[in-house]
Amino acid sequence: HTRWPGLIAAYRDRLAGAAEWEPVTLYEGGTPLVPAPHLSELTGCEVYLKVEGLNPTGSFKDRGMTMAITDAKYRGQRAVLCASTGNTSASAAAYATRAGMSCAVLIPEGKIAMGKLAQAVMLGAKIIQVAGNFDDCLELARKVTSEFPSIGLVNSVNPARIEGQKTAAFEICDVLGKAPDVHALPVGNAGNITAYWRGYSEYHADGVVDSRPRMLGVQAAGAAPLVNGAPVSNPETVATAIRIGAPASWNGAMAAKEESGGAFRAATDAEILSAYRLIAATEGVFVEPASAASVAGLLAARAEGWLDAGLTVVCTVTGNGLKDPDNALAGMPLVQPIPVDPVAVARALELA
Ligand code: F0G
Repeated sequence: HTRWPGLIAAYRDRLAGAAEWEPVTLYEGGTPLVPAPHLSELTGCEVYLKVEGLNPTGSFKDRGMTMAITDAKYRGQRAVLCASTGNTSASAAAYATRAGMSCAVLIPEGKIAMGKLAQAVMLGAKIIQVAGNFDDCLELARKVTSEFPSIGLVNSVNPARIEGQKTAAFEICDVLGKAPDVHALPVGNAGNITAYWRGYSEYHADGVVDSRPRMLGVQAAGAAPLVNGAPVSNPETVATAIRIGAPASWNGAMAAKEESGGAFRAATDAEILSAYRLIAATEGVFVEPASAASVAGLLAARAEGWLDAGLTVVCTVTGNGLKDPDNALAGMPLVQPIPVDPVAVARALELA
């Protein structure tokens, strides 16, 4: 085995602009496609999880960020800015550090998971909390970077981001030897669904695979503009990563849905949290709440007969469960410590 070289090196000839680049990399990509036997049993499908929480900063954002920061480096930019519900800021901070650039992040007040904030702090980002939601932060970031063009905008409105993120679709096809029949993923700002669809479409156009999946985009019920067909002005959900009311890649998401014969669905917070616990408890994969929306959407779509048994399905689980310890521990009862005594342990285990 040779070691995974990072996704720019792995897919260089398929990445616009990357031919001559010396990548800024943390060896992102090459994440496992993990079979999900329990979910397969539940649905009668062959279900896989694309475990994106195993990227260097714990989310799929690293795929876009290696591209965006390398691109910024070649443009001579010394500073980057993003709006973020947390994962983009962690990723931007890490790659900017690798490139010797400074990084500032605009985060929505009080609505980012603790693990993500800890990453941004440790990775040296300038953290600016905004009295508004993600959509407000993104609008601000766009205004600031258009007024000060020496600062690079590294949200997914940056074309290099989408270009990098499409490699996840390549990896899935490379492992399966074909495209899946259905691909489910959480949708917030809609960059990732746009990227996956581009990846599948390019492999299909080049004859690497002979079909493309139906795309199932899952939003949180309280932040479901694509399901409703209109922006949501006060998005709310426990899945803070996708608490977004006005997705920047609206058109890309619509195209993915329409061209693939796919669908958008809303999952309630209760459905998201139930899938969140199910994936951990039955598959041994700990993801963050937003990531579980893909599985919640798949289960509901299967129950309604939107897809048949026997199909090959991939669910992207976008971020690591360690990002959001508060949601993991919410509702855990406080237990009294036991004495240092084997009998007490046996009693606690209900063996005695
Ligand atoms: N899952 C996670 C864990 C995310 O962090 C995000 C987006 C998504 C899904 C949705 O992806 O925006 O491409 O549709 N997080 C962004 C951020 C908004 O700032 O980290 P999308």
